[in-house]
Amino acid sequence: MERYRKKVLYSRDVIDERVKALAGQVSRDFSGKDLIVVGVLKGSFMFMADLIRAMTIPCTIDFIRLASYGSATVTSGKVRITKDIETPITGRDVLIVEDIIDTGLTLAFLKEKLLERNPRSLKFCTLIDKKHRRKVEFHSDYVGFDLDQGFVVGYGLDFDEKARYLPDVYVLEE
Ligand code: PRP
Repeated sequence: MERYRKKVLYSRDVIDERVKALAGQVSRDFSGKDLIVVGVLKGSFMFMADLIRAMTIPCTIDFIRLASYGSATVTSGKVRITKDIETPITGRDVLIVEDIIDTGLTLAFLKEKLLERNPRSLKFCTLIDKKHRRKVEFHSDYVGFDLDQGFVVGYGLDFDEKARYLPDVYVLEE
């Protein structure tokens, strides 16, 4: 990562504002429901922690971890669950929280897998959506920021496991 310069793309204040707006929307939409919020590890942990704290409704928390086969740069398209949720979701309302959607392959796979368990509803919330990068059709119900280009790190997002801890989102420039 040393060969890149980091430029702030979304400052912690801007993130905070968007997270609060999303939390408001989610709280309204799921008011009175039996909501389970599922974070996709690892990238979503910081966003999810802030999102649920800004929500005004109760929820159950769980996590799932997914891995795609192939190298870090070339996605093979084959995804597998390496750590499943521990909460039964049948008949319940589920909100999946992601840090970023790129090709859509990860969440398209997850959606198919979780629908087999017959939740009452299944919605998706992502901090960053790179819609133009889709290889498969995938729609996120809640989006923090739409991003056209650039490799981003910080606020949970990593570059080779580095930079997740940073409180702002940066774009890497050569
Ligand atoms: C990232 C991100 C999504 C996925 C998006 O996870 O958190 O899960 O890639 O890419 P896609 O839309 O092309 O499938 P990553 O595999 O980097 O793991 P991490 O969350 O542990 O950083």
